[in-house]
Amino acid sequence: MDGQLRHMLRDDDVNHDEQKQIIALGLKFRENRFYKRPFEGPQGVAVLFDKPSTRTRSSFSIGVAELGGYPLVIDKSGSQLGRGEPVADTARVLTRMAYGIVWRTFGQERVEEMAKYATVPVVNALTDQFHPCQVLADFMTIAQFRGGVDALAGQTIAYLGDAANNMANSYLLAGATAGMNVRIAGPYGYLPEQSIVDDAKRIAAENGGSILVTTDPREAVEGADCVFTDTWVSMGEEAEYEKRSKPFWDYQVNDELMKLAKPDALFQHCLPAYRGKEVTASVIDGPQSVVWDEAENRLHAQKALLTWLTGQLRGDESLLA
Ligand code: CP
Ligand code: NVA
Repeated sequence: MDGQLRHMLRDDDVNHDEQKQIIALGLKFRENRFYKRPFEGPQGVAVLFDKPSTRTRSSFSIGVAELGGYPLVIDKSGSQLGRGEPVADTARVLTRMAYGIVWRTFGQERVEEMAKYATVPVVNALTDQFHPCQVLADFMTIAQFRGGVDALAGQTIAYLGDAANNMANSYLLAGATAGMNVRIAGPYGYLPEQSIVDDAKRIAAENGGSILVTTDPREAVEGADCVFTDTWVSMGEEAEYEKRSKPFWDYQVNDELMKLAKPDALFQHCLPAYRGKEVTASVIDGPQSVVWDEAENRLHAQKALLTWLTGQLRGDESLLA
């Protein structure tokens, strides 16, 4: 490794081989929780939240501790960032103390600003635009059930629902990076931005994958290896709750729709899930659902990501072995 500072702000911040390496490392952490301990000291990692979280909070807190480090978890209400201190100044301070900065916030430009002024890796723990840590865990879950990382390229994945949200964008970029056939289905008015679709198409072409964006849920799910959905009302959109129910009913993942996918298709959901809305209880609590492995894999995949990022920074290849 070259000792270069790397960040994970959006899914295409890593290339095909790097994504595979991180997911393979995640599978090793799944076998042995204490496989590598790059933060022994303990070294501190700042984990900041401007939005609520259960999985991201617990997986980064426990994950950093299992890596031998100390997770400094700070909520918006408990930081000067929440009172308007500039992101750049926060970055300059944290970078003097922490070995990594993990941040869940609103606009993508905020994590980009943090990365601009930090001299330690910055990880996007969800923005309005992307959720790259989640999709690393989701693809690790596919690798877990399909016999390893080499099985990822060529998989057909379908995402249904709010196709303009962070999860849809991340499936587009990460799926393209993995060389998957990515199908995204949502109603008019809730489709991904063209610039992200264009990026995904360019990356997919480099890696042997393909991109389909459609308003037809059946076209997306037909013959898919894995079906994903997410809430119709993301964090920060609560005021639109009523407005956001009606357009999505045709995209509910139910038994009828799952029957169109391959018979052994997996079902995943980043969680939290709203049964009876974006997914029926019969699907999320049924035999094809792997959502609890998916949630557990947040821990392993993020430990792998942090190990990989700091390995890059330190030029320590042994961390990645
Ligand atoms: N999937 C996910 O990021 O969950 P939390 O909001 O609970 O962190
Ligand atoms: N799209 C959802 C994902 C939650 C993990 C949100 O942003 O609220």
